[in-house]
Amino acid sequence: MKILVLNGPNLNLLGRREPEIYGSLSLEQINAELTTHFPKTQLDFFQSNCEAVLIDALHAACSNYAGVVFNPAAFTHYSIALRDAIAAITVPVVEVHLSNPEQRENFRKINLVRDVCASHFQGHGAQSYMDAVNYLIGRNTDGSV
Ligand code: DQA
Repeated sequence: MKILVLNGPNLNLLGRREPEIYGSLSLEQINAELTTHFPKTQLDFFQSNCEAVLIDALHAACSNYAGVVFNPAAFTHYSIALRDAIAAITVPVVEVHLSNPEQRENFRKINLVRDVCASHFQGHGAQSYMDAVNYLIGRNTDGSV
């Protein structure tokens, strides 16, 4: 089973970026934890700060992955294009956030992707990613991808 772990804008700065909100782990450390935690699952990792590149990654994921774990970061709150890309593909996309956007500023309470995602996990730092991978493993039925 192959899963793509996709991260959006500014998440390349994790560890240095507002650690009181997002924690002290870098994205590379979170990815390494995931790899260690799920030795039987092939996890591929990709991060971009660019909306179009993330859309292309979602389109490409369709033929290659059983699921996508996706932290759209700030795009969560305003990108109709990313929402449409998630809705357009047949592979399940699980929304992830390190923080809990619903308990932060009002503009973070707007969420354009939630209802087109298969599930969501938020507010538990790196554990949110673990929970999302576990969810996809649990719903994978044929194990073919
Ligand atoms: C985030 C929450 C978003 O509101 C924010 O723009 C991010 C990170 C999170 O993981 O908590 O960049 O997606």
